[in-house]
Amino acid sequence: MPQTVEVAFASLADLHVREGEPRPDTLVVFAGENMALSAETRTLLGAAASVLPRAAETAKFKGKVGSAIEILAPGHLTVGKLIVAGATPGKKSSPEAPELDYASLGGYVMGKAGGASNILVALDLPAWKADPAAAAADFMMGVKLRAYNFDLYKTGKKKDKDEEEKPSLVKVTICVADPDAARGASLGRDAIADGVRFARSLVNEPPNVLFPVEFANRAKTLEKLGVEVEILDVAEMKKLGMNTLLGVGQGSANDSRCVVMRWNGGKAGEKPVAFVGKGVTFDTGGISIKPAGGMEDMKGDMGGAACVVGLMQALATRKAKVNAIGAIGIVENMPGGKAQRPGDIVTTMSGQTIEIINTDAEGRLVLADVLWYVQDKYKPAFMVDLATLTGAILVSLGQEYAGLFSNNDELSERLTKAGLATGEKVWRMPMGPAYEKMIESKFADMKTVGGRHAGSITAAHILQRFVNDTPWAHLDIAGTAMASPQTDINQSWGSGWGVRLLDRLVADHYES
Ligand code: BES
Ligand code: MN
Ligand code: ZN
Repeated sequence: MPQTVEVAFASLADLHVREGEPRPDTLVVFAGENMALSAETRTLLGAAASVLPRAAETAKFKGKVGSAIEILAPGHLTVGKLIVAGATPGKKSSPEAPELDYASLGGYVMGKAGGASNILVALDLPAWKADPAAAAADFMMGVKLRAYNFDLYKTGKKKDKDEEEKPSLVKVTICVADPDAARGASLGRDAIADGVRFARSLVNEPPNVLFPVEFANRAKTLEKLGVEVEILDVAEMKKLGMNTLLGVGQGSANDSRCVVMRWNGGKAGEKPVAFVGKGVTFDTGGISIKPAGGMEDMKGDMGGAACVVGLMQALATRKAKVNAIGAIGIVENMPGGKAQRPGDIVTTMSGQTIEIINTDAEGRLVLADVLWYVQDKYKPAFMVDLATLTGAILVSLGQEYAGLFSNNDELSERLTKAGLATGEKVWRMPMGPAYEKMIESKFADMKTVGGRHAGSITAAHILQRFVNDTPWAHLDIAGTAMASPQTDINQSWGSGWGVRLLDRLVADHYES
C-alpha cells in the first residue's frame, strides 16, 4: 500500500492534548540536555511531564540528538503515544555544518513515529539557536525526505504475514509559535524535497520502464512549471555531430536522447549556470560486458541525469532567481551486432577523436558531447556535471563523499562549503599534466581509458578536454547516488544525491 504524507503547520497555542477524548495520535516533543523542556512544552504536557525524569533515567536518555523515549498511553494526555526526542546537538563536524541539523531531526522523528497516522509535533526546542521559521522548514523537508518510499511495483498481495499494516495516509502537523512564518519559509524547502523525491524515483525505476525515450518524457513534465524542455532525437544529434553519445547507444534497441531544460528565472541576458548529467539508463558494459553479479544496480547509472532533472524541478518550483540550464545525455549501453567495439575511433562533436578501449567506459563518451554542446551553445558562467562515472571513486572515497574534479578553485570551494552545509559532501581530487599522458592514444587524439591506476582522475581528464575555458566541476557520484548507507533523511536505494547540494550552491552564490 503506497504511503502518502501530508505535512501542515499549525500554531503551538492551538495544540491541546490534555482534555477531550483519547485519540490514537502520536505527540512528539523535544528535550535538551538532561531532559530540559521549553516553558511551552511544559505547559503543553502539564502533569504528564512529571513522569519524564524517571522515564529518562530508566532509558538512560540524555536528550542527545538521535535518541528518544516513547511512552504509550501517557497519563493526563489524550494522545496514544508520547515521544520525547533529544535535541542537544553533538559535536559539529565542520564550521559550515549547522549547529542542529533540523532536516535530520525531522527525518529522525518521522522514523520514530512513522507507524502512526496522525503525528503532532510540538516544534519548540529548549534552545533555539536558529531562525525558527527556517528551522521548521528544514524539519518539514526532513520529514518529507524520510517519508519517501518507492513501492510502485509492490502489489501488496504477497505481504509478509507479520508485516505491520502501515497507514496509507500519514498526517504530520508541525506546531510552531509562528505558523505563517514557517509556511513562508517552507515553500523553498518543499520544492527541494520534491526535487529530491523525483530524482530518487527516477533512479529507483527499473530499466525496462525507464529507457531513454521514457526518461526524456519524464523530464518533459517540467514544462508545467515553466521550464523550457528541448528533446534532441537521434537524427538531430547526428546532425550536430554527437557521435560519441550516439556511439554508446548504437548497440541498444532503445534510441538515445539528449534533453536540454532551461529555467529563466534570472535577469534577461544574464549568463546561465549549467548542470550536465550522465543518464545511462542501463549499463551492461556493452561488448566489454560486466560480470553478472550485482549488474542489476546498473539501472542507477543515470543518477547524474536524475539529479539534474530533480534540481531543475526544485529551481523552477521555488522560482529561483537564476538562469539555469540542465542538460542530460540519455543512452542505454548494450552489447549487440550494432554495438561499438573496443578499438573503434569516434569523432566527437568537438572534432577531437577518441579511441574506445573498453566499452564499459561509456559515461565519459556521453558527457563529452553534452559538455561540448552546452559550453558552445550557452556560454554558461560555469558547468557542473554529475556522473556515476567510475567504480574507482568508491575505492578512493567510499560512500561518504563524492569525488570533485575541477579546473576552478572558486567553484570548488563553493561546492565544498555547500556540501558541508547540506551534508552532501564532496572531496576535491587532484588533476594535472602527468595524468594527461595516461590518456594519450597511439591512433587518435586520446583514448577512453588510461589504465588501472587513477581511474577516476583519468576519466575526469577526458571530460576536461570538452569544457574549453568554462569554469567546470565534475562530481563522480558512483558512490553516493545509489545503495548508499541509510540515514535519517534517506531510506531509499536511489538517494537523489546532489539536488540539495546544487540548490544550495545556486542559492548562496548565483541568485540575483
Ligand atoms: N557506471 C560505471 C561506474 C559505476 C560503478 C557506477 C559502480 C556505479 C557503481 C561506469 O560506466 C563503468 O563501468 N566504469 C568502469 C570504467 C573502466 C572500464 C575504465 C569502471 O569503473 O570499472
Ligand atoms: Mn560502464
Ligand atoms: Zn556507466
